Amino acid sequence: MKVKFTETVIRDANQSLIATRMPYSDFEGILEKFDEAGYYSLECWGGATFDSCLRYLDEDPWERLRLIKAKVKKTPLQMLLRGQNILGYKHYPDDVVRLFVRKSAENGMDIFRIFDALNDFRNIQVAVDETLKCGKHAQGCICYTNSPVHTIEKYAEMGIELEKMGVNSICIKDMAGICGPQEAYDLIKALKNSVKIPVFLHTHATTGLGPLTYLKAVEAGVDGIDTAISNFSGGTAQPATETMKYALEQLGYETDLNSAVLKEINDFFAPVKKKFLDNGILDPYVMGTKTDALVYQVPGGMLSNLVNQLKAQDAIDRLDEALAEVPNVRKDLGYPPLVTPLSQMVGVQAVTNVLVGERYKNISKEVKAYLRGEYGRAPGEVNQELVAKCWKPEEIITCRFADTLEPVFEETKKKLGKTARSDEDVLSYIAFPQNAEKFFEKREEKESNTVNYTIEKKEE
Ligand code: CO
Repeated sequence: MKVKFTETVIRDANQSLIATRMPYSDFEGILEKFDEAGYYSLECWGGATFDSCLRYLDEDPWERLRLIKAKVKKTPLQMLLRGQNILGYKHYPDDVVRLFVRKSAENGMDIFRIFDALNDFRNIQVAVDETLKCGKHAQGCICYTNSPVHTIEKYAEMGIELEKMGVNSICIKDMAGICGPQEAYDLIKALKNSVKIPVFLHTHATTGLGPLTYLKAVEAGVDGIDTAISNFSGGTAQPATETMKYALEQLGYETDLNSAVLKEINDFFAPVKKKFLDNGILDPYVMGTKTDALVYQVPGGMLSNLVNQLKAQDAIDRLDEALAEVPNVRKDLGYPPLVTPLSQMVGVQAVTNVLVGERYKNISKEVKAYLRGEYGRAPGEVNQELVAKCWKPEEIITCRFADTLEPVFEETKKKLGKTARSDEDVLSYIAFPQNAEKFFEKREEKESNTVNYTIEKKEE
């Protein structure tokens, strides 16, 4: 049996360890090598890369994609797409989602890993459909979480639903690294027994379970796993590529990976890692193993948010109460997976309930929108009393939220006029208006400086 490897160093590992601050110039010199390593795919775009390019790195994310594609010619490029949210947390109308997928495909994207935070697959359907229309690989994603309604049977049903939708493969996305080896084994077995398409597993090394979880997933027949080259592996990133290859081959599994090339790639990233350690962006803290998530059953990021929120209100002594309130809020909201932004919404509400001393006396705007159905369908039963506190029955949304949204692309394009030089620019603006605007301004400035410089030179 052969196991496929997706390399995450320039997307998820970059995002998880150094908040996506790696500029293109830091990895440009190794891109061609990726083609020789034997990876199934290279995750390189989507998630926070887009925002970070515009906001911090002064890079056009589309240009980054084209540059990567020009150098990585054989290995399929992969991105993470939040379904109807594209790259952010709000729902966009279908015209934007479709054009975003089409432009991503045109600029070089091959595999679209598409997910919805609530596993409400109505919210990924349009992105999946457009990906398939572009002749690209649509990977349907299932967010992994623990709850009484997230049973093995339920996950198998989700797999069947995705297969029926026409996706080319399925990915289990364990964003918090809380899926244990036995859970992974049972889950992958159930999915492999329910669907014919390949199944991939994505986890993080945060809790230290990662390599064990991958091993049992492989035993259960998983087709591919996500890993990061060792210099950018471990901690909040993925388990190491070289380690997983070594262990799996020793156990008799095949991989297409070439150790000598992996070593070259890893050596290349050693000084990059050192640079980020030296400038403080890579905090050794995130590289360690943190098992609190296993005790509290909340992701590490959510726990640190809870702690910060309580500290800010001078109430850190209420942490145990807040942690005890988390499962109650989660139950009232119908057990949403604890992924951004739902994890923050549940956490903030739990803290508010504890500090105010009365449950749901204050309800956040986001939780209200969730209760109205703006995020999609909750996995379990939502507390109806709570819904009635916020909304009249006729205000509740049961359709797909994007069905209530009017197209915006053409109108935005007109509004931007010459500022946007391409449809890609318009999409950048729609996704991140303020950051794109600043980026466009800086781009103009830079170019007019270069022009002046050339003129001065001529005059000399
Ligand atoms: Co991830």
